[in-house]
Amino acid sequence: MITYLSEIKEEMKKIGLDDLIIKLDHIAYRVKKGERVKAMVELANAVPYHEFKSFKVISMNAITSCIKLDETLPVIVVSEGLAEDSIVEKYVEKYGGRIHHLAYLVKDIEKVVEIQKKRGIKFTTDKIIGSEEEGIKQIFTIPTQTANHIIEYIQRFGDFDGFFTPSNIGALMKSTEKLGEA
Ligand SMILES: [Fe+2]
Repeated sequence: MITYLSEIKEEMKKIGLDDLIIKLDHIAYRVKKGERVKAMVELANAVPYHEFKSFKVISMNAITSCIKLDETLPVIVVSEGLAEDSIVEKYVEKYGGRIHHLAYLVKDIEKVVEIQKKRGIKFTTDKIIGSEEEGIKQIFTIPTQTANHIIEYIQRFGDFDGFFTPSNIGALMKSTEKLGEA
């Protein structure tokens, strides 16, 4: 297994992916309606996280809070649906409260997606969502077979520190909606 991983690492180095993927940007949880604060408290009891922003996501009828340890470490994003028909609540009803995706910050998302498509990685949308003007570009892979979470590739521009923009959240959620029902 270790040998196999080192072969992948070698391949990634050769095709340039090694340099394009920078770090883990955020980890996104989806939890049961009414359990967002409880989830954050649980995490903060284990590790001294502090809350840095919360916002309502109208298009998925959900509320999202973000906690972090410090500026350099990945942000933890916790979402809960506000009603039974929320995409988040439907997902949680099916799979339980869990990690929905791990998001990796990349340098050139077009290049990353081009390379990964050639390697057979499948995405929930054909196109990358967002734009440089909006400060963010992102795309989701289909869920892993072993743990059923998604990998997100994210590229940030300027000082944008959000996780999606109002104009792309609808498209983004639509792209994973079928995953919640799959
Ligand atoms: Fe994300």
